Amino acid sequence: MHSDIIKKYLLKAIDAFNRKIVVLSQDSTVLAVNRHVIETQGNDIVGHKCYQALYDRSSPCEECPMEQVLENRKPTLMYRQDVFMEPERSMCLYSYPILSGENVEAVVMLDFGLPVLECVEEKLQRSNAFLRNLILSAVDGVISADKTGKILIFNDAASEISGYTIYEALHSLDIRDVYPGDGAREVMKKLRSAEYGGKGKLKSCQVDVLNRDGESIPINLDAAIIYEGDTEVATIGFFHDLREDIRIRKELEKIQVQLIQAEKMASLGKLAAGVAHQLNNPLGGIILFTKLMMEEYELEAEAMEDLERILKDAQRCRDTVKELLEFARQTSRKVLPHDINQAISRTLFLLENQTLLQNIEVNKQLDTSLPLIPSDIQQLNHVFMNLVLNAAQAMEGKGKLTLKTRLASDKSCVCIEISDTGPGIPEDVLPHIFDPFFTTKEEGKGTGLGLSIVYGIVENHGGKIVARNNSPDKGATFHIRLKIDER
Ligand SMILES: Nc1ncnc2c1ncn2[C@@H]1O[C@H](COP(=O)(O)OP(=O)(O)OP(=O)(O)O)[C@@H](O)[C@H]1O
Ligand SMILES: [Mg+2]
Repeated sequence: MHSDIIKKYLLKAIDAFNRKIVVLSQDSTVLAVNRHVIETQGNDIVGHKCYQALYDRSSPCEECPMEQVLENRKPTLMYRQDVFMEPERSMCLYSYPILSGENVEAVVMLDFGLPVLECVEEKLQRSNAFLRNLILSAVDGVISADKTGKILIFNDAASEISGYTIYEALHSLDIRDVYPGDGAREVMKKLRSAEYGGKGKLKSCQVDVLNRDGESIPINLDAAIIYEGDTEVATIGFFHDLREDIRIRKELEKIQVQLIQAEKMASLGKLAAGVAHQLNNPLGGIILFTKLMMEEYELEAEAMEDLERILKDAQRCRDTVKELLEFARQTSRKVLPHDINQAISRTLFLLENQTLLQNIEVNKQLDTSLPLIPSDIQQLNHVFMNLVLNAAQAMEGKGKLTLKTRLASDKSCVCIEISDTGPGIPEDVLPHIFDPFFTTKEEGKGTGLGLSIVYGIVENHGGKIVARNNSPDKGATFHIRLKIDER
């Protein structure tokens, strides 16, 4: 048991405590209060119901810790907005039982402001951190700026797009520097207008922004003005980098054109094959009857000479038609051992009479001891045809075309070189020549598909193709390596 002196100090301590302490009976009657309650609520609350005395209510409050304390006989904490008639304060009410054996003799309630404030603060901090994380980890760039243009929010994605560090952006960047020219003003104009997604909003607008190096980057921008009441206080923008989207779109467009082109080529091939076929029969007739005339009639020498000329030209036509048929034949990839030299000679044969090659000196240095190469000969014909045509076009019909074949020193590959004495390939053009649709020829003269098809075919054969400029001589050389053993 406490001594009187202890009791005295305990009472003094309770009275000096700068929070309200109220002792209640089980039926909510105020049994005792400390001095702080008397000072703030008046003296005459003892003996009254707590809800009447403290809350001016005629019935118990909906939120009352009493019930829980009585039920559990344990302390309880309850957050209330209007604790002890001070609605502007948000507090917690700490209540605990005074036990007498198993029974609750009375309930003590004390208002406790600090814990609830700490709790709210912690909650706020947590939600702030969450929002910060949300913005920082957004896939799109998020930039917010105040009315003066000072950057307030700048996330990782914005930093990646713009090249500015977050520190730089927050300390020295102005939102106007992000847009080229008068871009920022244009965006603000659109934001203030109701036409682009409602007043204060800008939905899905394509703009350019400048990165740290002054490079222009296409962006899809969603933005909004942040208002406080009616006053504009800041803007926020979500920046989606369109470079990858544009690249994919262009790639798709190219593929589509390529498909259309391939389709056209296929129909052209069929057409050529059809025509060649049609020519084959009459040519057979011409050859047959010319031979008959030469054998069965006693003809003058001059007439014989003329017929010989007809026969020679007709045979030549038939060979051309045969080659054309071979060439245009649309078959699936058929890999068989083939003589590369023969394929090169056949290409030259087909091109021999083209005006473009008339004044070109063709120099063949073919190694006759080459082994056969597993390949699709139709496709290789295309390769040689494209390379020879490119060379002839580069030389503008005048110069020297050299075709060489040899066995690689380790005997694993056949090396083919096709070189010309044209102007060569400019250094800035060289990295692009195998790209589909890359051409330096004027519109209508080249599709830029030739070398990309060549590249695809050589790669499909497990081979390699590179282009180099000749040195010290002028011109370009295409080097192809084809494996002797199939992959
Ligand atoms: N032998 C060469 N000498 C100099 N430049 C060349 C040579 N071969 C190719 N090129 C360059 O490479 C580019 C691409 O060649 P590619 O064969 O793919 O297309 P193209 O010849 O322009 O058009 P297409 O073949 O569809 O008619 C050419 O436009 C040219 O600039
Ligand atoms: Mg070409």
